[in-house]
Amino acid sequence: MNQSEIYQPAEDSFLLAECVKYFLESSKINKKEIKVLDMGSGSGIQSTNLINQDVSERNIVLVDINPDTISFLKKKFTNSKIILSNLFEKLNSEKNKFDLILFNPPYLPENKFDKGLDTTGGKNGSEVINNFLVQAKKYLSKNGKIIVLTSSLTKKINWQDYKKKCIGKKRIFFEILYVWELEV
Ligand SMILES: C[S@@+](CC[C@H](N)C(=O)[O-])C[C@H]1O[C@@H](n2cnc3c(N)ncnc32)[C@H](O)[C@@H]1O
Repeated sequence: MNQSEIYQPAEDSFLLAECVKYFLESSKINKKEIKVLDMGSGSGIQSTNLINQDVSERNIVLVDINPDTISFLKKKFTNSKIILSNLFEKLNSEKNKFDLILFNPPYLPENKFDKGLDTTGGKNGSEVINNFLVQAKKYLSKNGKIIVLTSSLTKKINWQDYKKKCIGKKRIFFEILYVWELEV
């Protein structure tokens, strides 16, 4: 297994985790019962944060496109469902409905120095996010929510018809990170 290929938690990961913690503490949601999708799980930091907030490991589904990441996650989260998939490709929207979907996506515009799947989201930085936004609504339970991170560097995000609220913001180096709560 090549652990260097696995995205290591950074400012974006910590900001998303902090916002999710606040969201879970401040909403009336039953943490032990909710079903959560951790899209683009990487090291699993978002799932660890959920478990620390009393979300049941059995109710978490982790998805990543990177096979090394998936092998790593299968050893770390033995009670969760771990799926190797390009976004929702390997999930069935009839059988999988989530109360919460988290995504810290690759959001940087591609450049000649960086084309990594963990950080770059296509030419504008928004291709993966836009693809995610088109599909994610089909996987939400009634009153389900999406919490997604973007950056001021991400261009041309298509928010579709989601209702969106900014629940977190942080300036780092040359960019501003945003965390959004979305619902249909
Ligand atoms: C910025 S990292 C975030 C990792 C982790 N969730 C965190 O907060 O630190 C983005 C993750 O999304 C995964 N990823 C990129 N494109 C994907 C896709 N199309 N489908 C599923 N996962 C994807 C990458 O492999 C990487 O693990």
